[in-house]
Amino acid sequence: MRRKLVVGNWKMHGSLAENAALLGALRPALADLGGAGSAVCVPFPYLAQVQQALSGSPVAWGAQTLSEYAKGAYTGEVSGAMLKDFGCTYVIVGHSERRSLFAESDAQVALKFEAAQKAGLIPILCVGESLAEREGGTTEHVVARQLDAVIQQVGIKAFAHAVVAYEPVWAIGTGKTATPAQAQAVHAFIRERVASLDEGVAESLIIQYGGSVKAANANELFAQPDIDGGLIGGASLVVEEFLRICEAAQG
Ligand code: PGA
Repeated sequence: MRRKLVVGNWKMHGSLAENAALLGALRPALADLGGAGSAVCVPFPYLAQVQQALSGSPVAWGAQTLSEYAKGAYTGEVSGAMLKDFGCTYVIVGHSERRSLFAESDAQVALKFEAAQKAGLIPILCVGESLAEREGGTTEHVVARQLDAVIQQVGIKAFAHAVVAYEPVWAIGTGKTATPAQAQAVHAFIRERVASLDEGVAESLIIQYGGSVKAANANELFAQPDIDGGLIGGASLVVEEFLRICEAAQG
């Protein structure tokens, strides 16, 4: 049985005061849950605060992107080793907002995935199609292309130490969730593609769903056989919502 993992993606939200309130409420509540894993991925400046607030708890933390470079003259960039310095377990790579707003290519995402693992971090690789791509019938083609770019760079065995998040772009922040059947179909496609290269890796690979997950729809999504938890944006900023989503992942 794969364990489930729920990760909050705070995106560019928060302040020291807001985070303190959120973390103060999450820590004791999530410690009681046990079972499924949980984590929050926060903006860089707050990593120290989150590290202090969550150290010694079962809740992990991480960042939302990293540089593909290890160190050097890359003004404004943050390396995997720096994230590791602040106790990060995870880092999101290839989020659709990075791909579309910051022009990250499949090849660059693959390099970031590799840089994350070299630094000892677990990459959460986001894949997913736009509305036009879904309506054009190319969902599987797009997801396969995004996945294959990374497999080519690092090899299939690297996915034994990674998480994949299927996030249909049309469902992110829109309130429009993929139906459990729609999401399950793509999750199964991803797992089969990985299985065609390595069955063991596919069997244990955590594939999260992301895109307008909330307390009200988490149960039916997480009940699907290939949905192993979620990557949660907006609802991760609301204590009660996030806690109920984490509870749903307990099964
Ligand atoms: P959302 O975001 O839950 O607000 O749709 C998910 C994500 O982008 O990770």
